[in-house]
Amino acid sequence: MRLLDPAHEPDAIALAADRLAQGGLLALPTETVYGLGARADDDAAVARIFAAKGRPADHPLIVHVPNAEAALSFVAAFPPVARRLVDAFWPGPLTVIVPRHPRVARAAAGGHDTIGLRCPDHPVARALLQACAERDVLGIAAPSANRFGRISPTRAVHVVEEFQDQGPAGAGLDEVWVLEGGACEVGIESTIVDCSRGHPVLLRPGRLTLAEIEAVAGEPVAWSRPEAPDPAAPKASGTLVSHYAPRARLRLMPDAQLAAALDVIEPELTAAHITTAAMGPRIGVYSRSLWAHRPQHKGVVHLSMPGDAATAAHDLFADLRELDATGVELIWVETPPDDATWDGVRDRLLRAAAS
Ligand code: TXA
Ligand code: MG
Repeated sequence: MRLLDPAHEPDAIALAADRLAQGGLLALPTETVYGLGARADDDAAVARIFAAKGRPADHPLIVHVPNAEAALSFVAAFPPVARRLVDAFWPGPLTVIVPRHPRVARAAAGGHDTIGLRCPDHPVARALLQACAERDVLGIAAPSANRFGRISPTRAVHVVEEFQDQGPAGAGLDEVWVLEGGACEVGIESTIVDCSRGHPVLLRPGRLTLAEIEAVAGEPVAWSRPEAPDPAAPKASGTLVSHYAPRARLRLMPDAQLAAALDVIEPELTAAHITTAAMGPRIGVYSRSLWAHRPQHKGVVHLSMPGDAATAAHDLFADLRELDATGVELIWVETPPDDATWDGVRDRLLRAAAS
């Protein structure tokens, strides 16, 4: 594994672009989460992503492009609604699914006849995409840089945790290199809108909400929610009900229920601690309101969920990783507010709780 840091190495971007041009794997920062990238126009390079992640090869990846014009080389058609969305939200945390050009990026699209495209808004990602274009790399296929079904990485160190035991040091193109870009600003994956079915469908909410998408689309946008999955939706990892899971079992509950559950379990944990020496915490709690009113219990570790949706999204995956790392068996999370700005966070928590 090699870590490249553009803040300290002037040639980091060039080395990263060379790596991709050669067909190698490179984890890159975006404003949403880190992606595990390979050149999208090379099926052998893309196959390395599926192998490294342990992801089924028919699950399509998102292709990252430097601008809307570059997106055109991947498409058979760019539906007007996709054009409106792209014009409004690129560069930014929006992925559009459109009909794929039949001769391009078959592996990146998981063999599907549609393709997911996104133009990220992160200075390092943009510099990298530009350097790739100069090397005739059309786009970077990149799913989130985590192993299949796990929490997406929002910092370079998370990517290192996911892949550091992968392959011998200094090995070939299968080895994951990581491009440093700091903590991801948005923190949850892009909003995905399928524009390939004649009417737009929201496949995954993110920073951009359904209302914001609808305002630009100029027509109603259907949403296949994790609570009620659309049976017609294409199979896609981010839309699998069980996904984005920490190792510990995660449960969502309203704050009153969470408090009641702790009232029941804490005496049990006290009893267990008396009989088992040196036992760590067993339950992690992630709540906005609860902790101010409760005495600490050594069987329970608490992290505060931020009170506003944007900060909660920014912190979510890092906080779940932190709770997971304490070795707890259960993570109890207070249900997010029932407000559209929380749709992305709620969606990720519902999926994590379904595992
Ligand atoms: O913010 C993001 O979207 C991040 C960063 C790295 O850009 N990427 C990301 O990729 O979250 P991934 O693979 O973890 O999620 C991509 C989602 C999956 O649900 C995938 O199935 C869906 O996009 N997707 C991609 N192409 C598709 C297609 N042709 N049809 C339906 N879903 C598609
Ligand atoms: Mg993912």
